[in-house]
Amino acid sequence: MSRVQPITENGAVETTTPYTPRKIIESKSKVLNFLTSIKFTLTLIIFLVILSCTIVFDSIWMSVFAGEVSKLSENVRKSEFNLIISNTERSIKKVVLASELAKSQLYSGFDFSNETQSMSHTFRMHKAIKSHLNDLHMLLVGDSNGNMYGIELEETSVMFTIVNQEKDQSYWNCTDPDKNDECIHGDFPERVEPYSDYTFIPQIASNNQGRTLFSPPFIDSHSNQLSIACTSILAIPPSSKTINFVTML
Ligand SMILES: *[C@@H]1O[C@H](CO)[C@@H](O)[C@H](O)[C@H]1NC(C)=O
Ligand SMILES: *[C@@H]1O[C@H](CO)[C@@H](O)[C@H](O)[C@H]1NC(C)=O
Repeated sequence: MSRVQPITENGAVETTTPYTPRKIIESKSKVLNFLTSIKFTLTLIIFLVILSCTIVFDSIWMSVFAGEVSKLSENVRKSEFNLIISNTERSIKKVVLASELAKSQLYSGFDFSNETQSMSHTFRMHKAIKSHLNDLHMLLVGDSNGNMYGIELEETSVMFTIVNQEKDQSYWNCTDPDKNDECIHGDFPERVEPYSDYTFIPQIASNNQGRTLFSPPFIDSHSNQLSIACTSILAIPPSSKTINFVTML
């Protein structure tokens, strides 16, 4: 059964229990009074005006700065991109120039099948070129059969290499390459590896006589690196059927 409780004049429930929340009711009505008072209304209006002003100003500044910041970052991006392009362009020009200069050294009486001659020529060429080309990995001269002689730069060594078409590829360690003008090497090659397929280079050469061009990128099976060959092909007299070339990887 529920107890019926008397109701007082102002509508509050009067109870006799010791935990009557009279004080809470009093403070609630105080809060209500304050909420409806002019003082509070004015404070609220001023607060809202300040808040809205702050939001408006902030959004103006934000939009101004956001524009500036995005313009700035776009400019930075653009200039970095241009730098990459101009560096790449410069590297490509250097490789082409080096290939054509190397080719120009091979015109008069160069015998592409003479191992001794090819060794000393490619060694001196690589010495002249390597300080201007950071990415030079290999410099080769070759004939239409795809036999090639050249210099391969390894981590700490300069190796003379002979690509014997469809047979093998041998490497000779050139001792003290900085001090010598010739590749001074031992009697036997440092190592002989299975032949890696460079046949696309003489193929490029036979189809593009007299030109300098880049191969499509390929994975070099020895270094396992992505490489691009720049091949400069000697102009061939009409009577001759041989195609000789110098190529850089
Ligand atoms: C190869 O070239 C060297 C030096 O240029 C020369 O002395 C030699 O006779 C040539 N060998 C052949 C087989 O022509
Ligand atoms: C080549 O010889 C040099 C010493 O002249 C040596 O330091 C280097 O390790 C050798 N490189 C190879 C691949 O054998």
